[in-house]
Amino acid sequence: MSRYWSAVVHGLTPYVPGEQPKLANLVKLNTNENPYAPSPKVLDALRAEAAETLRLYPDPNSDRLREGIAAYHGVTADQVFVGNGSDEVLAHVFLALLKHERPILFPDITYSFYPVYCGLYEIAHRTVPLTDGFEIRVDDYLAPNGGVIFPNPNAPTGRLLALAEIERLLAGNRDSVVVIDEAYIDFGGESAVGLVARHPQLLVVRTLSKSHALAGLRVGYAIGQAHLIEALVRVKDSFNSYPLDRFAQAGALASMQDHAYFESICAKVVATRTRLVSEMEGMGFEVLPSAANFIFARHPVHDGAELAARLRERSIIVRHFRNPARIAPFLRITVGTDEQCDALLAALKALC
Ligand SMILES: Cc1ncc(COP(=O)(O)O)c(C=O)c1O
Repeated sequence: MSRYWSAVVHGLTPYVPGEQPKLANLVKLNTNENPYAPSPKVLDALRAEAAETLRLYPDPNSDRLREGIAAYHGVTADQVFVGNGSDEVLAHVFLALLKHERPILFPDITYSFYPVYCGLYEIAHRTVPLTDGFEIRVDDYLAPNGGVIFPNPNAPTGRLLALAEIERLLAGNRDSVVVIDEAYIDFGGESAVGLVARHPQLLVVRTLSKSHALAGLRVGYAIGQAHLIEALVRVKDSFNSYPLDRFAQAGALASMQDHAYFESICAKVVATRTRLVSEMEGMGFEVLPSAANFIFARHPVHDGAELAARLRERSIIVRHFRNPARIAPFLRITVGTDEQCDALLAALKALC
């Protein structure tokens, strides 16, 4: 605290990211990174970018990257917005499209950055409880609202909402923007991007941090009709005209173009997830059905916080959320390599 702070800063409750430990040799299963390397073509593109041209500003509009993303998704470049990680894209979405008189709606258990943006931008919001089975129930979102946002699959539960349910939400909610945060969709769901052409109020947000194994490059994007994208560009150009540096633009483009590679590493993660779930269920854990690169699991006897602490003593880091109380018994475990998951399973067997 300092008397020099603005009133806004005094009132903030910032997001707390998962730990990025400086220690080597940890089994790091706490922040949903991809355990595999990015495409070799990304690394080639980054090396080529390390050149004299770094003295020049990058393309402020990331045109080539937006064209590459548009080609991958079968949309046009004016339907694509890019940002410095999907967190930055989301921040602009909250200010540009979700700040209205009516409260926006999102689940009570979801990505914990959403309420932080509401605090930063003074956006009214109402949280909607997930069902007892931790599912999103579309009917709960059909009341008048300033906007709707949730991840699909949801985080930290990993549960997927069927595309038909998203269509039902869009049909019943035409007057405010519906944002589907598809950070994890490549690990088992069907994207809502195909619905953008028919729904002027739909915005789909995605990231290269998870399925493309590029969390360190910080690239995220949004797809929606051009009028929604224009709003995001207006905010971006009132904040930072060059959110993506030359490396980020070149590396992300190479990754979008090498989709066979990122699809193959996603398939490996999904195969390991299937095995991890079945082994943990065999040990008595309840594991929610996951369409993501993480699982959300609780043991009938052992407390989540305690298990996380005991795993840490064995150099295995997973994520535990104390709040809300309903999820305190759970651990969120990123699906790592087979070897990492074997280390986790061996430790859990010793502990439970
Ligand atoms: C649901 C969800 N959305 C968005 C993000 C942000 O991803 P990034 O800023 O790395 O693109 C995350 C990161 O964990 C997430 O879980």
